[in-house]
Amino acid sequence: MHEMLTLEQALAQNLSDAAPEVATALIDTIGAIAQACARISDLAGQGMLAGAHGLADSANSQGEAQKKLDVLSDELMSHHLDGCRHVAGWASEEHECHLLSKQHARKGRYLVVYDPLDGSSNIEANISIGTIFSVLPHVYSGMLPTDSSYMQPGHEQLVAGYVLYGPATIMVLSCRRGVLMFTLDKRSGAHGEPMRWLLTQEAVQIPAHTKEFAINASNQRFWEKPVQRYIAECVAGENGPRMKDFNMRWVASMVAEVHRIMTRGGVFMYPRDTREPRKPGRLRLMYEAAPMAMLVEQAGGRAVNGTSELLDLIPDTLHQRVPVILGSREEIDRIVSYHADPHENVSWQLFKTRSLFVQPQA
Ligand code: F6P
Ligand code: MN
Repeated sequence: MHEMLTLEQALAQNLSDAAPEVATALIDTIGAIAQACARISDLAGQGMLAGAHGLADSANSQGEAQKKLDVLSDELMSHHLDGCRHVAGWASEEHECHLLSKQHARKGRYLVVYDPLDGSSNIEANISIGTIFSVLPHVYSGMLPTDSSYMQPGHEQLVAGYVLYGPATIMVLSCRRGVLMFTLDKRSGAHGEPMRWLLTQEAVQIPAHTKEFAINASNQRFWEKPVQRYIAECVAGENGPRMKDFNMRWVASMVAEVHRIMTRGGVFMYPRDTREPRKPGRLRLMYEAAPMAMLVEQAGGRAVNGTSELLDLIPDTLHQRVPVILGSREEIDRIVSYHADPHENVSWQLFKTRSLFVQPQA
């Protein structure tokens, strides 16, 4: 087998067209996130032996009960970002407010947003979980970041990525120059050395066609008409208008669902539903939807809320939720066309790039 590139080597190659100081700063920042994720991987991999299973005695910014591993993963991310001189501050799904770097809040050129532990309902079941992250420019570098520093549309992201803690630990990332996949070498890191990530795939592409979809079908009665129609047609299979059978998957860890789509195509949806009218979706725009949208688009797929590209949405608040529909391009084009159909009577066509919905208080 030929020698594999390390994370640093692969990124240096991927960013060879960037100014050298930009490439260095991005590589350092991704390196800090990668080391945090290597430690989360170790904790997750120890299962009950790490004492990290079960509930923490706390709730997150949205009032959801936190698991111990949510809290520990968040602390590891914070710790490693605080040690990176390019990072001015960060915002986490687990914190109500954004946080400032102790030493680099004014000088840092980047902001990082992340979901430290995605799919945490799966922890005790020993099913894949993940971390999702995104690096944004700190536009007014030199000044302290504020909430509004983070209100940037997804297409401003400099880096988007996720780490999947499954049988192997895999990091998938994009610096807007295609999608790279790395595997954590779990044999590395002896004697306090940093853990090694090796490039295992590049130029990742999502097939445009698919016969596989993922949706939490228990919410069916709350879906809007275009989604009802799309899923009904998939389920009708060979006997329906699609004239082919579809397969369904639901892991309940977004990272695992997106990774499956990265490896063999498919559609993932957590669409708008009418369960709680003040919540326009389940997933968070900044921590989940925007980074995944950038990765999917960079791999040739498409990511929308039904009517607009997810990368065009400008957040109103740090914890804003949005509908998410992403995956193989041909299927997403079809779902968008169902939303655009005037006969489908979508009440929220008016809500284009800005959400007019008020976020619920925790
Ligand atoms: O972070 C939210 C999340 O756990 C996603 O990872 C996952 O796709 C979804 O929620 C699962 O939702 P549900 O509990 O409705 O299946
Ligand atoms: Mn999540």
